[in-house]
Amino acid sequence: MVERRGRVEGKVAIVTGAGSTPGPGIATGRGTAIVMASEGARVLVADIRPDRAEETRSIIEGEGGTAAVFVGDLTQAADCEAMVRTALEAFGTVDILVNNIAAAMPGSVVDTSEVDFDRVLDVSLRTTFLASKHAVPVMAAKRAGAIVNIGSIAAFRGGNYVGYAAAKGAIHAMTIDMAYSHGRQGIRVNAIAPGHLTTPMLLANEGQTPATELRQQMANAAGLLGTEGNGWDVGWAVAFLASDEARWITGVTLPVDSGIMSVTPLMMAPQLREIPPLGS
Ligand SMILES: NC(=O)c1ccc[n+]([C@@H]2O[C@H](COP(=O)([O-])OP(=O)(O)OC[C@H]3O[C@@H](n4cnc5c(N)ncnc54)[C@H](O)[C@@H]3O)[C@@H](O)[C@H]2O)c1
Repeated sequence: MVERRGRVEGKVAIVTGAGSTPGPGIATGRGTAIVMASEGARVLVADIRPDRAEETRSIIEGEGGTAAVFVGDLTQAADCEAMVRTALEAFGTVDILVNNIAAAMPGSVVDTSEVDFDRVLDVSLRTTFLASKHAVPVMAAKRAGAIVNIGSIAAFRGGNYVGYAAAKGAIHAMTIDMAYSHGRQGIRVNAIAPGHLTTPMLLANEGQTPATELRQQMANAAGLLGTEGNGWDVGWAVAFLASDEARWITGVTLPVDSGIMSVTPLMMAPQLREIPPLGS
């Protein structure tokens, strides 16, 4: 009988954007940080908002896990460098980096301003680039590490979020390039493409539609399973990709999307005609 160990037992993980937009539900960053801690990692919770980061830390510690907080703006190189230094000071190393931060603003190329476009790319893409830039050398020095970049199905399916789609497409491309560059250094780099999750960020952004109605639509139309997805679903996928169980997996994008990438709108049509009640 093999003794049950956590998937990432003894590892040190940095999760960026591991706070959460306030509101009901579980964010992907917070969910990932909590899952990683529950699976045995010591977690550096990095966020620009101290209140949000502290809340995640207190949830982790309340469940008996180990966490530290780093507060900084990860669009800035100096803050990314300081984040990695904080992990080294608190926990002695960095084994895992989860790049989770993103900003999304609706709009086409015509009605998205240059300022908004640059901002979305800065928050969603530059943070991933800079955090990786400073974490990779630590991993390379010990010839071991795992990076998981949070992308999106928005990179592959249209939705009138041009800046967000561009940033996420770049994240998936960057994942492949990073996997190439750092494979021989023992670093695996993978991505997750979440589908339409019910997260606090989504519920806050879609303020026009009442939450219950939105959740009902999401459960029904978000994929083949007819159920809602949330931050835990991403957290568990990250825990697998970051763990040694995935030791021979690098350069992949794993959709966590209830199968929405596997279906065409025409084939979904019959299923959309019947709307089951939430939770059924
Ligand atoms: N909700 C969905 O349906 C969905 C779908 C696809 C992908 N995703 C992806 O999931 C991730 C979102 O995750 P979440 O649910 O944790 O979002 P969230 O907005 O609730 O949390 C993100 C955290 O990042 C922090 N942050 C923002 N800018 C920062 C900066 N410059 N420096 C440091 N911290 C910063 C925020 O304070 C916030 O606490 C994103 O990558 C998003 O693209 C979500």
